[in-house]
Amino acid sequence: MKPLFGNIYKDKVCLVTGHTGFKGSWLAFWLTTLGAKVIGFSLQPPTRPNHFELLNTDYISIIGDIRNKVAIDNAVIKNQPDIVFHLAAQPLVRRSYQDPVETFETNVLGVLNVFEACKKAQCVKAIINITSDKCYENKEWIWGYRETDPMGGHDPYSASKGCSEILTSSYRRSFFNPEYYGSRHNTLLASVRAGNVIGGGDWAEDRIVPDIIRAASQKACVSIRNPKAVRPWQHVLEPLSGYLTLGWKLLEGQKEYAAEWNFGPDSKSNSSVKELVKLAQTYWPVINYSEAHEAQAVHEANLLMLDCTKAAKILHWQPVWDFQQTIQKTIVWYKEYYDSHVVNSEKDLQAFINDAREKGISWSL
Ligand SMILES: NC(=O)c1ccc[n+]([C@@H]2O[C@H](COP(=O)([O-])OP(=O)(O)OC[C@H]3O[C@@H](n4cnc5c(N)ncnc54)[C@H](O)[C@@H]3O)[C@@H](O)[C@H]2O)c1
Repeated sequence: MKPLFGNIYKDKVCLVTGHTGFKGSWLAFWLTTLGAKVIGFSLQPPTRPNHFELLNTDYISIIGDIRNKVAIDNAVIKNQPDIVFHLAAQPLVRRSYQDPVETFETNVLGVLNVFEACKKAQCVKAIINITSDKCYENKEWIWGYRETDPMGGHDPYSASKGCSEILTSSYRRSFFNPEYYGSRHNTLLASVRAGNVIGGGDWAEDRIVPDIIRAASQKACVSIRNPKAVRPWQHVLEPLSGYLTLGWKLLEGQKEYAAEWNFGPDSKSNSSVKELVKLAQTYWPVINYSEAHEAQAVHEANLLMLDCTKAAKILHWQPVWDFQQTIQKTIVWYKEYYDSHVVNSEKDLQAFINDAREKGISWSL
């Protein structure tokens, strides 16, 4: 059987910031299975329990703060990464209202520190900055956002991700310009925008799946806010397969890929919070919910979808699991964790790869 992603990650040094978090822990784990030498750089895990400690994967884990320029400089200089996946962030909308300064410092100045460290070190061949679908100026319309749509953001988190994108675009034009790749510098810089990511191993506050799981594990009823809000739900392995596909092209020096990319589900997975919870109940009947009516609710986006035509046509990337499979894998992961103390991440990754191969998706062949 052919190796994944053209075998590009074998023996590559991959720096993953945010490796103690939900998405970063899955990405670092997947990279180790591809034969990469993984270096993680993050604060301590943001929750307890957390997927990073449950996986207990063997790689170098540096506990540090991306707001500390010296710390990230040292991590890059000492480890000489080939590629940097930058995921470390303050990723929560509600917390961004409580602490906008922490959010902007982490999500904007932190990105600047990572770019500067890479610029100085000169060993980094590729940087992928993980932002969010919330970077777009949200018009609450029925169409998916394209990569060329304007940046924006009402709440501080969304605005910080819009800023992070503008910063990426500036660094790509000013310091990592693809036109001068191989002559003035050796780094290709891209950014990636994904939607609401779910899957086993997330216990973050104020996110719908962790909220219903926390309640279900105590046989309690969860109150769901914004039941009608429509989101592009996708399993965590979907955007990660996109980031790894993009990293493959950048590591090969294909400079036309140094750009911005959406990685979202197909349009049928754009479902409401209520539809998600009702489907989740079918896999774990102890899930019980009521609809919240908050008089003082802070503003959050209601309708937000991505147009992923660019990734489909140019990267030949496409989602593997549909909405029903995504919810099933996610809920069963937690059910087995709480019922039998089993961590099914390796099993889910293998199932995802097998299903990608069956669908003929390019990175898996
Ligand atoms: N989960 C989603 O649905 C989703 C959707 C779109 C984008 N994203 C983005 O993906 C990335 C990962 O999100 P996640 O869901 O895994 O979040 P998470 O909260 O689980 O993980 C965040 C990680 O960042 C680290 N971190 C936070 N502040 C830091 C700092 N100052 N210095 C060093 N490390 C720091 C944390 O320790 C943790 O490892 C974020 O950039 C987030 O904005 C997530």
